[in-house]
Amino acid sequence: MQVVSISSLKGGVGKTSVTLGLASAALAAGIPTLVIDLDPHADATTGLGVHPAGQLDIGHMIKGSRKADLAANVVPSGWLAAHKHDGAPLPVLDVAMGSAFSGIYDRPDLGRRDLRRLSTILANADRDGKAPYQLVLIDCPPSLNGLTRMAWTASSRVLLVAEPGLFSVAGTQRTLRAIELFRSEFAPALVPAGIVANRVRSGSNEHAYRLGEMKTMFGELLLSPTIPEQANWQQIQGAAHPIHQWPGDSAKNSSALFDKLLESVLTQGATRSRLYRG
Ligand SMILES: Nc1ncnc2c1ncn2[C@@H]1O[C@H](COP(=O)(O)OP(=O)(O)OP(=O)(O)O)[C@@H](O)[C@H]1O
Ligand SMILES: [Mg+2]
Repeated sequence: MQVVSISSLKGGVGKTSVTLGLASAALAAGIPTLVIDLDPHADATTGLGVHPAGQLDIGHMIKGSRKADLAANVVPSGWLAAHKHDGAPLPVLDVAMGSAFSGIYDRPDLGRRDLRRLSTILANADRDGKAPYQLVLIDCPPSLNGLTRMAWTASSRVLLVAEPGLFSVAGTQRTLRAIELFRSEFAPALVPAGIVANRVRSGSNEHAYRLGEMKTMFGELLLSPTIPEQANWQQIQGAAHPIHQWPGDSAKNSSALFDKLLESVLTQGATRSRLYRG
């Protein structure tokens, strides 16, 4: 089970959109996936179109982490209803729902025991390799407070999302430093899975300049492909639809980008794990 946090210090750069794009690519590839919505705003939960039937949200599971039953409280994504599986078994795409309640853990002073709460839930769910997931994507809130740190403690990789702008590039550098510090203190197995540049405008000189800067600064950590600014993005997300099932060429192009990005995240992360261990 590979656990990937999708993070950025800066808000609104596209963490949730990238999480949803990767979840859509994983669904299309038949990779059994769980999305954990750790942001109290619960945008990923909305985008994944869940219809809860009495399940606990992730905040309440975290509160009772030692006894939390992940399998009993995940909700299948509404995306599955429209998924064409041609008679094959329906793939797994579950959601651990977000809610404002998780906000009680988004404090800067969370202790070591609290930081381990999400890891405990995942470890209990995966005892004897029992969890049905190959991939776990954690959509983080835009801060370095308790929830993001809890997500990092439970993850082997952190995927950073950045827009190619001055403050976002500087924020990414700070986040990389924070990951490095966190790794040495709390999570020796944690490595950056890379940086995905989002909302790239192809005609923008500023974006081209910042992308060049990011390449120089971050080297192989800057993932390929980058994700362009897309006009119909909000419409697709508002309809709680996976990009892979949306009609039209532009959605098809985006789907192909997320397929590649998923592959990049999985393989680049593995390479970096080896590098860090070495
Ligand atoms: N590549 C893109 N093209 C067009 N619009 C985008 C793109 N990526 C994100 N957006 C839009 O930008 C807004 C912010 O994106 P998103 O919610 O994914 O960011 P976030 O980092 O998760 O934000 P937050 O920090 O609030 O959680 C959304 O309305 C989303 O639809
Ligand atoms: Mg978000």
